[in-house]
Amino acid sequence: MADDDVQFQRTEYMTRQLTEEESQKLLQDTLLVSDFKQRKLELEAQKNWDLFYKRNTTKFFKDRHWTKREFFELTEYNPMTKHVIFEVGCGVGNFMFPLLEEDINLIFFACDFSPRAVDFIKSHPSFDPTRCTVFQCDITRDIITENVPEESVDLATLIFVLSALHPDNMVAAVENVVKTLKPGGALLIRDYGLYDHAMLRFAKGHKLGECFYVRQDGTRAYYFSLEKLRMLMEAAGLKAERVTYIQRATINKKEGINAPRIFVQGKFVKTTSPSTGHTREREDARVSNKLNNGEGKSELTLVSDELLESKDSADGSDES
Ligand SMILES: C[S@@+](CC[C@H](N)C(=O)[O-])C[C@H]1O[C@@H](n2cnc3c(N)ncnc32)[C@H](O)[C@@H]1O
Repeated sequence: MADDDVQFQRTEYMTRQLTEEESQKLLQDTLLVSDFKQRKLELEAQKNWDLFYKRNTTKFFKDRHWTKREFFELTEYNPMTKHVIFEVGCGVGNFMFPLLEEDINLIFFACDFSPRAVDFIKSHPSFDPTRCTVFQCDITRDIITENVPEESVDLATLIFVLSALHPDNMVAAVENVVKTLKPGGALLIRDYGLYDHAMLRFAKGHKLGECFYVRQDGTRAYYFSLEKLRMLMEAAGLKAERVTYIQRATINKKEGINAPRIFVQGKFVKTTSPSTGHTREREDARVSNKLNNGEGKSELTLVSDELLESKDSADGSDES
């Protein structure tokens, strides 16, 4: 950011309105990359990310110091316990290291597609194998519980990662992560939003599908609407607790350039325990049957409290 730049940020629930010129540009971009090339991009996705880190090393993404401001869940937890975080698609650790350095109660699992990114993490001066387990994986295919125990994670994060996957693989990837979450645990997401400045800058010949584009280096980017993100998470068994657009504008005082960045951000909660197969609603019905049969009074009190809490927080307004 230059000295003359001013940055604004606001939370939005409505999709950004396009100008006439922007609408025309998107409408006219109808040519899709061929199926052959699309298959090749999918087959070479890992190679392309690994080459990205070969070219950029640790210098591309900035440390993400905004995370505690945007996700209070990263700091508000029982200080007497360790807080287990699973960072999926961790890159070279720009999200994880600032948090590890500030809070000794955090323990991380972290994974990335690129073996080179994983090596960068392991050679970072703040890497501590007693607090961070890092491994290479393809989140869309690998059995994640071989590296992260089932239901062991308080918070999982996908920070600009889902957008890098083929849309057909997104639900499977999220389901994979959900297995590692404790019941009541949450997935925090920040990613590219519909009509982001970068989406509107793609030249013809880069479109892979609706809201899905390929960059020059072969890495791909999907731009999410709130509805799409919500549907995706619900299909993977998560409940949306808050989902918003984050609009950031950078305005240069001299040149007046406004580059609207649009992100989607959300918290999605695991209200189902796969080990029992009981959703909260089914659990409710099960307990109410027990009550009608005169059994399990103390269990009813406990579970009802838990149900109330979950309803309250699901109704809670956005934090930012
Ligand atoms: C835009 S970068 C974001 C990196 C990091 N989360 C951050 O915010 O700095 C996307 C990351 O997702 C990783 N990724 C892409 N596809 C993946 C997959 N199938 N499984 C695991 N990680 C993947 C890439 O290697 C890359 O590091």
